[in-house]
Amino acid sequence: MIKKAILPVAGLGTRFLPASKSIPKEMVTVVDRPAIEYVVKEAVAVGIEQIILVTHSSKASIENYFDRNFELETTLEQKKKYDLLAEITQIVPEHVRVISVRQPQPLGLGHAVLCAKEVVGDEPFAVLLPDVLVKNDANTHDLAQMIAQYTQSKAAQIMVEAVPEDLVDQYGIVDVAVIPEQGESQAMQGIVEKPAIGKAPSNLSVIGRYVLPAKIMSLLEQTPRGAGNEIQLTDAIAMLQQSETVEAYRMCGQTFDCGSKLGYLKAVLHYGVAHPKLGQPFIDLIKELKI
Ligand code: G1P
Repeated sequence: MIKKAILPVAGLGTRFLPASKSIPKEMVTVVDRPAIEYVVKEAVAVGIEQIILVTHSSKASIENYFDRNFELETTLEQKKKYDLLAEITQIVPEHVRVISVRQPQPLGLGHAVLCAKEVVGDEPFAVLLPDVLVKNDANTHDLAQMIAQYTQSKAAQIMVEAVPEDLVDQYGIVDVAVIPEQGESQAMQGIVEKPAIGKAPSNLSVIGRYVLPAKIMSLLEQTPRGAGNEIQLTDAIAMLQQSETVEAYRMCGQTFDCGSKLGYLKAVLHYGVAHPKLGQPFIDLIKELKI
């Protein structure tokens, strides 16, 4: 029932400079494909049919990546490089549309989501933050579980994971009466954006996957600027929670913050060793380092 996903990609990626000076941070490759492809595939895997990129004029290469490239396709066809041809034409299945809207001003994540209001209409939708890669094993899919829980309870789902107490000021943090087990949702009592260390209601951080009702859009329209003088999605979720149940879903998988350099390197290592073709030679390379 959730068919639309918003991916806010307008951020300038200052944490990833200098690479992000002329390449969108979402286009930096993790092993052999841009980071954004993993996030789009995560959405497609759970039945999303419309990917809504909320983007910026400097990020046209993201849209180009999900578009067809006639010249390249013709060249590969002429050279009989059919494997590569299949690879570049099957990045997303045919029934999936990747569309984009612009975020004209950098007014925060809440504002970015609001920019997709007309496209979303009155349907519930998912939000996936592209900096964070979520890696699941073969038996679980966190986003799928969130959608299943939403379908059943109609309560908005916010994916969380525990972080060390000294990092709570970098995230949205949820307040829950009962700490959810991994793979489980529990009703939230509150949510706060980047609380000071020592003032956080828990150590359960919002990691960048949300399933939200369309109503959040009208709440975002009323959301004043908050942390960092930006319109925060967290603040609109806090308002939503005043009038209906919002649940924190505690994830099972592993996250990689590709917006940070070390998080990115960790992602390359994990996705590299798990790669179907490059995995074994990559493991051999790492062994050669003898570290
Ligand atoms: C955003 C959200 C925050 C969330 C984080 C996850 O913050 O506002 O609630 O915890 O993403 O990565 P940002 O990292 O954009 O400052």
